[in-house]
Amino acid sequence: MNKKEELEKLKAEMAGDRALPLTANLVFGEGDPDCTVLFIGEAPGRVEDEMVRPFVGRSGQLLRRNIRDAGWKEEEVYITNIVKRRPPDNRDPLPEEIEAYKPYLMRQIGIINPKVIVPLGRFSMNYFLPEAKITRDQGKVFRSSKYLIVPMFHPAVALRNPEYMKEFQNNFKKLPRIATQAEKLLAEHKSKSGPGSVYKSEQNKLF
Ligand code: URA
Repeated sequence: MNKKEELEKLKAEMAGDRALPLTANLVFGEGDPDCTVLFIGEAPGRVEDEMVRPFVGRSGQLLRRNIRDAGWKEEEVYITNIVKRRPPDNRDPLPEEIEAYKPYLMRQIGIINPKVIVPLGRFSMNYFLPEAKITRDQGKVFRSSKYLIVPMFHPAVALRNPEYMKEFQNNFKKLPRIATQAEKLLAEHKSKSGPGSVYKSEQNKLF
């Protein structure tokens, strides 16, 4: 099976999993399964639920514009969320919802096997870097398992705060270089913890 088929199979499994919380449309993710860079948000919003596509509302437009400005086509990266169904009333995902969807995200990441993961916002960041703080650590480059992790502000937060918008855009500009150097960086900075363990953010900070 190629990656695309594996992802389709995973999506079908999720769609049939009655134990998963939330009942809205399943917004699985989209992009190139052979991408170098994977963006992970929190959960779909109203527009995403309607269009059954991740990041297509207002914050999605900001994300996608920055992806293009970085020199990539939107279809060249992969975009998804931790929680793949919209929580009612646009509330934040609950810890138990994140927990329930996590194993699927882990398998999705395993299939795609990117070099660089960009968690958007603190929920997604804390999945990889449990002790990291978004205001302190966004834009830094960490390593978790075999991936470089570059947490960034959630685009919805950037839209509400001009300072964060500046940071968001500046950090985006660094991504192409990080992506180009990812293989070299990963080879140079061997993970200090074993695979699958919890990574200490400071210990694994590369630059
Ligand atoms: N916010 C997210 O975290 N994900 C989306 O897909 C849209 C908005």
